[in-house]
Amino acid sequence: MADTNFDVIVIGAGPGGYVAAIRAAQLGLKTACVESRETLGGTCLNVGCIPSKALLHASELYEEAAHGTLAKWGVKTSKVELDLGVMHEARLESIKGLTQGVAFLFKKNKVEWLKGHAKFTSKTTIDVGGTSYTAKNFIIATGSSVTPLPGVEIDQARIVDSTGALELAKVPDHLVVIGGGVIGLELGSVWKRLGAKVTVVEFLDQILPGMDGDVRKEANKIFRKQGFEIRTSTKVTKAEKKGKGVVLTVEPAAGGAAETIEADAVLVSIGRKPNTEGLDLDKAGIQVNTRGQIEVDHGFRTGVAGIYAIGDVTPGPMLAHKAEDEGIAAAEIIAGQVGIVNHDVIPSVVYTFPEIAGVGKTEEDARAEGYEVKTGKFPMLANSRAKTNKEADGFVKVIADAKSDRVLGVWIIASVAGTMIAQAAQAMEFGATSEDIAYTCHAHPTHSEAVKEAAMAVRGLPIHI
Ligand code: FAD
Ligand code: NAI
Repeated sequence: MADTNFDVIVIGAGPGGYVAAIRAAQLGLKTACVESRETLGGTCLNVGCIPSKALLHASELYEEAAHGTLAKWGVKTSKVELDLGVMHEARLESIKGLTQGVAFLFKKNKVEWLKGHAKFTSKTTIDVGGTSYTAKNFIIATGSSVTPLPGVEIDQARIVDSTGALELAKVPDHLVVIGGGVIGLELGSVWKRLGAKVTVVEFLDQILPGMDGDVRKEANKIFRKQGFEIRTSTKVTKAEKKGKGVVLTVEPAAGGAAETIEADAVLVSIGRKPNTEGLDLDKAGIQVNTRGQIEVDHGFRTGVAGIYAIGDVTPGPMLAHKAEDEGIAAAEIIAGQVGIVNHDVIPSVVYTFPEIAGVGKTEEDARAEGYEVKTGKFPMLANSRAKTNKEADGFVKVIADAKSDRVLGVWIIASVAGTMIAQAAQAMEFGATSEDIAYTCHAHPTHSEAVKEAAMAVRGLPIHI
């Protein structure tokens, strides 16, 4: 009979769980990982980060060819056609390659994959498909799933969540996105590039909550310029299927006259909620907070000895790299090492065009926390590489503590903001001042020079503006 007793059992094989399992095994702990999906990799690899980026990449190529971007560079194309079937195949191919890669890593590191749904039967045992397993330590990494919107029932045909929006069989004429957050703007961009009219209905008075105020304003301008219809301060109260489409009833968020919007497809992307249902957490003595999350201390301990939690199921940003780093730290702590995640320096990226990225505090949060701040801003229009590439939208903003000059946050809108933000995160991790960045030699011509210029602008001394 297969072994049922482990040093560590990880529940969930998303970026948090599979990374935790591999690190635990690398450190010599006998490790298993339970996953109920057919493939490893969790939300991120199967229906999240990876497939969305495959479609973002493919739709960008299509748009460049179909809408004249290539022609502006003297690359002539004739009769550009969309083969959505091939695009979906390419998406599935990326998922297959990466999820099989995780299965290979499990084998290589001798992590046992327990296939099925895990539920606690006590503080030290779980049940998976009728078999009881015991472990000295558990790491709960069950992730999150879409938050439903009352009155707007998801059918994955006309009214979809992010998973359905990755799989639409045809380009809708009119896609209405409910929620102007990360998923709405990324997947809205995909279908807009492929030819849909896209309307974003956002409850708040600005899109992209949580981001720096200047970034939110500029992003709003850029997306409108791209042809998105963005209706802020608006709520959806009803969705009725009519004919082949959907009729949405919307009204001002503060209340007022209702009106209707007709759509061929509706994407519900109003946030995600932690997956704790069906885990029987009460049998392990674990409670969830009012948002359904499992609270943990700095060492990812739940309060029940030997039970840890990481990733989307815990408080903090719902990001794959946050989950991964927590997975590594939790495994190292279990192995008796020092595992640390600096939650003040977790970058986030929206993979639209241009990309939008940030790390650290927003200017608003820094001021609210009592910091006296100084900021430096540099437009991408004045960056030689971005201008040459005809990618001049956006800016870099560096926020520093006025007293110590230490960098508190960096916000970027630029074609390659997701790549540029890494240097800001590294600088902040090392406690850099804006002067440190300003006097670091940056290669020319690169988009990253805009980070250096924004840092120079903190002291009012940028060169190229
Ligand atoms: P998950 O990846 O959700 O994995 C949890 C796993 O646990 C799942 O596979 C689930 O089946 C399994 N599970 C749950 N309960 C049980 C149980 N009881 N027994 C057994 N198995 C169980 N983040 C980024 O950083 N960058 C991006 O570009 C990005 N893009 C995204 C795009 C979309 C469309 C979506 C939806 C999300 C995106 N995210 C992105 C967020 C990212 O996917 C999550 O933050 C990340 O997957 C969280 O990892 P996790 O390990 O906590 O959980
Ligand atoms: P989100 O929290 O980013 O955005 C949800 C938006 O919906 C917010 O703007 C919110 O104000 C709005 N909203 C809430 N209720 C509403 C209502 N009733 N009507 C209209 N608008 C409403 O959530 P989203 O986009 O669903 O993404 C979920 C999570 O997945 C995010 O936390 C994000 O971290 C993660 N993700 C990360 C990506 C990345 O890193 N590139 C990509 C996609 C998702």
